[in-house]
Amino acid sequence: MERTCLAVILAAGESTRMKSSMSKVLHPVAGRPMIAHVMDAIVRTGISDVALVVGRNAEEVAAAASVAGASVTPVLQTERLGTGHAVLAAREAIGRGYDDILVAYGDVPLITDAPLRAAREGLAAGNDVVVIGFHTDNPTGYGRLLVADGELIAIREEKDASDAERAVTWCNSGLMAINGRKALDLLGRIGNNNAKGEFYLTDLVEIARSLGGHAVAVDAPEEELTGCNNRAELAAIEKLWQQRRRHELMISGVSMIAPETVFLSHDTVIGQDVLIEPNVVFGPGVTIESGAVIHAFSHIEGAHIATGATVGPFARLRPGAKLAEDSKVGNFCEVKNGDIGRGAKVNHLTYIGDAIIGAGSNIGAGTITCNYDGVNKHLTRIGENSFIGSNSALVAPVSIGDGAYVASGSVITVDVPDEALALGRARQETKPGRAKLIRERALALKAAKKAAKS
Ligand code: UD1
Ligand code: CA
Repeated sequence: MERTCLAVILAAGESTRMKSSMSKVLHPVAGRPMIAHVMDAIVRTGISDVALVVGRNAEEVAAAASVAGASVTPVLQTERLGTGHAVLAAREAIGRGYDDILVAYGDVPLITDAPLRAAREGLAAGNDVVVIGFHTDNPTGYGRLLVADGELIAIREEKDASDAERAVTWCNSGLMAINGRKALDLLGRIGNNNAKGEFYLTDLVEIARSLGGHAVAVDAPEEELTGCNNRAELAAIEKLWQQRRRHELMISGVSMIAPETVFLSHDTVIGQDVLIEPNVVFGPGVTIESGAVIHAFSHIEGAHIATGATVGPFARLRPGAKLAEDSKVGNFCEVKNGDIGRGAKVNHLTYIGDAIIGAGSNIGAGTITCNYDGVNKHLTRIGENSFIGSNSALVAPVSIGDGAYVASGSVITVDVPDEALALGRARQETKPGRAKLIRERALALKAAKKAAKS
């Protein structure tokens, strides 16, 4: 039978060093609250029951933690008396009876399911406590893992450690799996007789052993266990997240010329044989189908880009931009809530907002869909294979038929039927020789002024 598991996530820290009015675990990595990243790893481990220990912003934190596949119960730790005390804030949930209790922190967003699975496997193998550890060149501040004969015999906090113990470089990540049937008994035995006067969760190792149980440590990459205490660390975590995701995408068949200049969102989906040029930023909600090209310096969010479509350089796609197959949105164009039909081209200096553009249409340089009247937004419809001359303003709501022509520089306020030509501008007047006259007059004026001065 599959073992049952409750995850207890500690997120009651005061986040003082973040210098923020917002709870630390709500700060985003790749556009998503840290806590949601941790929750994803929990869910991928096959755990759905979660007790979330929070100190403030309980509702917001619980909402951010409510990812698909998880059932989250927030519990309040009103006094912050240490990690052991924090886990006991979930006493009621633990008391429901689980095979495994998995303790994780809400501020380690790079964690994956692999070490969490390994920790649970350690319990299944008969240990009462399994600690996730990491090797580091810089152990300062961490609890040290003290081992003998392949077993973990104690975790020593920095402040309580001897010089010899401080020299140990195998450290406690803080993440730990506990035998669920014994957890309440073990946790209840934790005291606070230590340098910090706190209830240390780490004491569980010695407590379990004193009762005849076993404890072990499993190893995980330091990078995955990076915690976040201030905004500089938040930026370092973001960097690691970006590196990891770019690498995954490249391995899956996405080309990036300068990957370190491409910034992804947590949910960016990119198909095979897509080329991403340098300096591209993705906001949330972007999907790109195979074979599309994103040229340099484009900013893309909430957009769908179909096979063979081309974006940029210097394009901005905002939420609701949908580019059909082989369509093109070129330099200095902005598209918001706009469907660009198959093979349609919006190539230069154009704003398309709240518009539907049919297949094969060509939108000339500097075209503006005037979608906003100061109060409401209105729709522009352009049929298939139409041609909008450069520098036209299409004042919505308005529709242009199939195969229609709009003359350059037009202001279009009335619907244009299929196959019609619309001119919405003053007729050109040409006056032969008039330029010469004007110039001569101007030169004469200049000469007269000069003569008056001298
Ligand atoms: C803890 C570990 C240490 C480990 C380190 C890894 C203990 C005693 N020490 O130390 O061995 O190397 O993490 O980062 O467990 N929290 C609460 N309520 C509390 C106290 C803490 O929710 O009362 C939460 C914090 O928000 C944080 C986590 O628990 O997410 C760790 O707490 P922190 O005070 O940072 O522990 P450390 O002293 O760093
Ligand atoms: Ca810490």
